[in-house]
Amino acid sequence: MQQRVGSFSSLEEGKEPIVRIINQPNRAFPLRLLQFLLLLLGLAIVFSFLSLYASRYLKVPNEINVIQSRFQPCAQEPKNLESWIRPPSKLLHHMNDSELFWRASFVPRIKNYPFKRSPKIAFMFLTRGPLPMAPLWEKFFNGNEKFYSIYVHSLPSYQPDFSPSSVFYGRQIPSQVAEWGMMSMCDAERRLLANALLDISNEWFVLLSEACIPLQNFSIVYRYISRSRFSFIGSFDEPGPYGRGRYNEKMSPEVNITNWRKGSQWFEINRKLAVDIVQDSVYYPKFEQFCRPACYVDEHYFPTMLSIESPHLLANRSLTWVDWSRGGAHPATFGKSDITEMFFKKIFEGKPCLYNNQPTSLCFLFARKFAPSALDHLLQHSSKFFGF
Ligand SMILES: *[C@@H]1O[C@H](CO)[C@@H](O)[C@H](O)[C@H]1NC(C)=O
Ligand SMILES: *[C@@H]1O[C@H](CO)[C@@H](O)[C@H](O)[C@H]1NC(C)=O
Ligand SMILES: *[C@@H]1O[C@H](CO)[C@@H](O)[C@H](O)[C@H]1NC(C)=O
Ligand SMILES: *[C@@H]1O[C@H](CO)[C@@H](O)[C@H](O)[C@H]1NC(C)=O
Repeated sequence: MQQRVGSFSSLEEGKEPIVRIINQPNRAFPLRLLQFLLLLLGLAIVFSFLSLYASRYLKVPNEINVIQSRFQPCAQEPKNLESWIRPPSKLLHHMNDSELFWRASFVPRIKNYPFKRSPKIAFMFLTRGPLPMAPLWEKFFNGNEKFYSIYVHSLPSYQPDFSPSSVFYGRQIPSQVAEWGMMSMCDAERRLLANALLDISNEWFVLLSEACIPLQNFSIVYRYISRSRFSFIGSFDEPGPYGRGRYNEKMSPEVNITNWRKGSQWFEINRKLAVDIVQDSVYYPKFEQFCRPACYVDEHYFPTMLSIESPHLLANRSLTWVDWSRGGAHPATFGKSDITEMFFKKIFEGKPCLYNNQPTSLCFLFARKFAPSALDHLLQHSSKFFGF
């Protein structure tokens, strides 16, 4: 009896034959046997009620069954390539940083893809909370769905409220608190890179803030980035207290004073450099230990590390325009009254720069910093200013 209670299905199976036997019009059937069978039937009904009740009351074992059966296909070996190259359907996962970075560092050894791959740009937004420029970005992305993906890192306490039709909907990655000038800022950037690396079609990675705007339409941005032989990260050797002055000799021999570089954190890098950053365990401990304020690690770690490892892949300049001319610790922020045709003309007609070793006047694809009050004017005139 005990065994039967434990097993719901055996009870169910036991019921039917009994019913059939009772229904048989056999007059030679002894009364005793009939009574015994009726007793059995009664017991069976009682036990089936008991087990129904038990399964409702003690939910756990039943749910384990459901979960096991639901996940069975995953436990099977992948049978086609599709399951290896499909991007994760949800960005929220339960990997911690060590697990995530390890997973993100997988690199195929065969360089030719045996399938059609349309390389995408991963736009990675490093923010505190809201994205006030979101409507402008929506306009910028519109119609180019095959060629970009979006990732947002914000304060873990922030609850985004994008509508399901927004390109930012569901694009938040598991985040942690990041503080300017601290290693936690570089950790957040590595977390963005690692999450974006999980999608094998992401080939270029652009880091942006909530105060950044696009300066060109998507086709120009895509062509500029995809045809460049170099990655765009600011990296220069600055003498004086704010450059070499921040170097600590305890970082040698991994980092010598001649290797020390500075550059703004708003970079564009390719997949190889993204993997290099995520997998780094040589330079990370040095910077974590010996570059603390007044050494601002987010201005030195990636530019220095990449200049040591892959100097031939770097353009040493950023694609993000910023105005330091007003002086002080922070660059200028532009609001409603600054947004004029003249303002952008000045940016577009600034100093020429090098693109694939040739001089060009198109040097910036993005700009910062813009206040939320600038949005209306930017939206209204985006086709005149930026061609989208
Ligand atoms: C992630 O989890 C693993 C296993 O529990 C642990 O060994 C590792 O230290 C964790 N890493 C971080 C960064 O928390
Ligand atoms: C730093 O200098 C030491 C001694 O000259 C040298 O062995 C080491 O390779 C240098 N490190 C880098 C990253 O160039
Ligand atoms: C960027 O700087 C490195 C030295 O840090 C140099 O080797 C490289 O050629 C520079 N890149 C370009 C495009 O000039
Ligand atoms: C993007 O801008 C360029 C130059 O401003 C223009 O020639 C091109 O037609 C624009 N592309 C789209 C898709 O709007």
